[in-house]
Amino acid sequence: MLGLYIHIPFCVSKCNYCDFVSFSNRENLKTPYINALLKEAQIYKNKKPQTLYIGGGTPSLLSARQIEILLGGLAKTFGRIKNFKESTFECNPESLTEDKLKILKDYGISRLSIGAQVLNDKHLKAIGRAHTGRQFFKAYNLAAKYFNNINIDLIAGLPMQSLSDFKKSLKEAAKLEPKHFSIYGLQVEEGTKLFDSGFKADDNLERKMLEFTLEFLSANNYIHYEISNFAKKDFESLHNINYWQSGAYIGLGLAAASYLKGVRFQNINNVKKYIANINKGFSAIEFSEKLTGKAKEGEKIILALRMLRGANLSARAQKLFEADFKQLAARSLVYIKKNNARLSEEGLYTANEVFRCFVEPF
Ligand SMILES: C[S@@+](CC[C@H](N)C(=O)[O-])C[C@H]1O[C@@H](n2cnc3c(N)ncnc32)[C@H](O)[C@@H]1O
Ligand code: SF4
Repeated sequence: MLGLYIHIPFCVSKCNYCDFVSFSNRENLKTPYINALLKEAQIYKNKKPQTLYIGGGTPSLLSARQIEILLGGLAKTFGRIKNFKESTFECNPESLTEDKLKILKDYGISRLSIGAQVLNDKHLKAIGRAHTGRQFFKAYNLAAKYFNNINIDLIAGLPMQSLSDFKKSLKEAAKLEPKHFSIYGLQVEEGTKLFDSGFKADDNLERKMLEFTLEFLSANNYIHYEISNFAKKDFESLHNINYWQSGAYIGLGLAAASYLKGVRFQNINNVKKYIANINKGFSAIEFSEKLTGKAKEGEKIILALRMLRGANLSARAQKLFEADFKQLAARSLVYIKKNNARLSEEGLYTANEVFRCFVEPF
């Protein structure tokens, strides 16, 4: 499997909690950025990616015409979008319009991911979102006219959010019957407004929210297939599964990461420099590394353990991490059966602690 990720860094405004490579107020850079990205794509014109993920930032903030240019350019380089096994386009409620949906559909995009985060207006405002709950429902219902395969993103543990608030948002979102949910526990990242405000996550409360999520979504026939991801049967995200299986991927655009032939490399995180470098025919890569030995095995295990079916361990991996697996199994954080290791329910809630065993220094 080979995945193709396209990064669109533009947003209406910066959400308080967001640590992704994204920014507002760069309207004039959108067209030059897309042109540069399509030029960067040429480097890989002989590759045949099977999944496509256009994420951000906010891809739906591009104008209808810019989306057309982007999809048309990608189709010219990699073949018709319809022929990808899966192609996802990330949308925010405030910028998703019918003309954009029609273009996405016409070009053969097969899946939408809509960021709701929470449905209560007071909470949306507190985290700096540019939309209301009502706008989310309107955008979702419009999207559902054109797309069957839709994901909704929610966050658990937001400021001012009680357990019953969270349950209400999840239940209301589930009434829409999306094919997929991504439910993330809030990460308070350094450098965000939320971090600077001194907000501290309440781990106990977040855990209760995630426990409810597992119970509620499984009762509603969603398969919990990755720590934060739930899907109706056959609607798991193929693009993301490829990441968790340590598959190869190409990333195009600002700060986008690629993983090819065991080498991981990443583009620069300065939009003007990115555009200028590409236009001059220079590389936009600023970092590359090739993991080997125990570090590589450890990374593969962490990614695979994220999936509920777990990691199938080579004899080498079993030997390298024998003591770690023994103690994780003794603490009932990981179940081991023959060569398969998978997180227990307790392991799911304490996954970061489990993963620490597999990163340097071991
Ligand atoms: C790359 S973001 C972009 C999606 C889109 N722009 C949006 O805001 O809906 C993808 C998802 O990551 C999640 N996310 C971003 N920052 C997070 C944080 N600090 N903690 C937990 N989840 C986060 C949100 O659910 C978000 O929808
Ligand atoms: S969460 Fe989404 S909309 Fe908000 S700043 Fe980050 S990428 Fe942009």
